[in-house]
Amino acid sequence: QAGVQDPADLAGRHVVVSAGGTREYLDPVRFLGNRSSGLQGYALARAAVARGARVTLVAANTALADPAGVTVRRVETTAQLREAVLAAAAGADAVVMAAAPADFRPASASNTKIKKSEDGSAPALELVQNPDILRELAAERLRAGQVVVGFAAETGDAQHDVLDLARAKLARKGCDLLVLNDVSGGAVFGSPDNEAVILAADGDTTSVPRGSKSVLAHRIWDQVASRLPR
Ligand code: CTP
Ligand code: CA
Repeated sequence: QAGVQDPADLAGRHVVVSAGGTREYLDPVRFLGNRSSGLQGYALARAAVARGARVTLVAANTALADPAGVTVRRVETTAQLREAVLAAAAGADAVVMAAAPADFRPASASNTKIKKSEDGSAPALELVQNPDILRELAAERLRAGQVVVGFAAETGDAQHDVLDLARAKLARKGCDLLVLNDVSGGAVFGSPDNEAVILAADGDTTSVPRGSKSVLAHRIWDQVASRLPR
């Protein structure tokens, strides 16, 4: 399904994309989850196929059909996402973490449904932090020259500008590219459109005006392709 207008700059490359939001179960019917439709990750997978790549998509709890020509691995929790991404990334030229992993999970999960008490009280949840997959990918560099890409959904606040938060996150994560979405107002969730700034560790900044998630996906692959070793 390569379009005539798409460059073949990912031909012969293997790329891994994660998408969706992970869930951490409290009991068999309840979970703590992260909001993410998976649309941007799926758009990235489709765009990479169109540019000639072999694509592995690790999808967390998405309600989307498998894109044609893509190997899809389905996961639920952050631990499962980590396992699947690290396994696929071992020989990959690029890894894009478009998924929204839950940062915390319950310290313990119940095998049976937690029942409500009659006195109106609620259980206290003890949470533990999940591993940071992007940081691990950036630190390990599972393949020489592998390009590692993260996303940051920031709202900013009175003290912090979204761009400053994103630059700090890029440095903290150690990845090569960070795609910043301004999510103030929640407008991007489930929307076909996106607006972003692609920050590079080498100092480049690329603004992508509001447009389809497919267009943003191609602008991200432009940045990845130009950083791949020959
Ligand atoms: N990410 C990851 N593993 C996690 C959490 C996040 O790989 N456990 C990745 C996301 O897929 C994304 C990037 O890290 O590409 C940034 O996610 P974000 O939630 O913005 O960053 P956090 O470090 O979790 O910081 P915050 O406290 O702002 O949520
Ligand atoms: Ca997070």
